[in-house]
Amino acid sequence: MRTRLACSLDREPPVAPTDPLARVIGPRDGPALAELMLAAYRGTIDDAGEGPAEAMAEVERFLSGAYGPANLTASDVTERQGRLVSATLVTMMEGLPLIAFSMTAPEWKRRGLARAGLLRAMHRLRDCGHPSVRLVVTRGNTPAEALYAQLGFAPDPV
Ligand SMILES: CC(C)(COP(=O)(O)OP(=O)(O)OC[C@H]1O[C@@H](n2cnc3c(N)ncnc32)[C@H](O)[C@@H]1OP(=O)(O)O)[C@@H](O)C(=O)NCCC(=O)NCCS
Repeated sequence: MRTRLACSLDREPPVAPTDPLARVIGPRDGPALAELMLAAYRGTIDDAGEGPAEAMAEVERFLSGAYGPANLTASDVTERQGRLVSATLVTMMEGLPLIAFSMTAPEWKRRGLARAGLLRAMHRLRDCGHPSVRLVVTRGNTPAEALYAQLGFAPDPV
């Protein structure tokens, strides 16, 4: 069971932490994003036993617009020790911004990386004039539900 959540951008989100190792997505990030996705989701409620090929296919679906055109200038990735360890992937679904994926590598979880990346993405979207941002979360995905609630996401009435 999945829940649709939305967060208004009418009011400025909390300050987004600056991070010299955070940046927007580049043209060669696909394989690193797939590796990150595989590691981040493994053992979670959303893990259906996918392998590297499925993770790469999922990243390609994001990049090719299967979830709405990828918004690469709002999306955010964070590097540590030369590899991607957290990512916030944004698409434009029916013209409205959608957080398609938020993910952090297991050994980097619970250090504020997803929150920081989401906040940077939310600020970029607000700066572009978007009034709100949406996402979908699996009910029972406790880390994600707590993260989104902390950022002000609430059930989407639409
Ligand atoms: C959900 C996920 C992206 C969070 O990444 P993260 O970098 O560890 O999150 P942060 O450190 O920024 O956490 C920010 C807040 O989220 C909440 N949170 C994060 N992990 C949590 C956990 N395991 N249990 C409870 N709350 C949690 C907390 O409120 C936390 O703030 P706090 O540490 O000050 O208490 C990560 O667990 C992940 O990659 N999960 C697998 C992929 C996934 O399910 N993505 C969401 C799909 S909708």
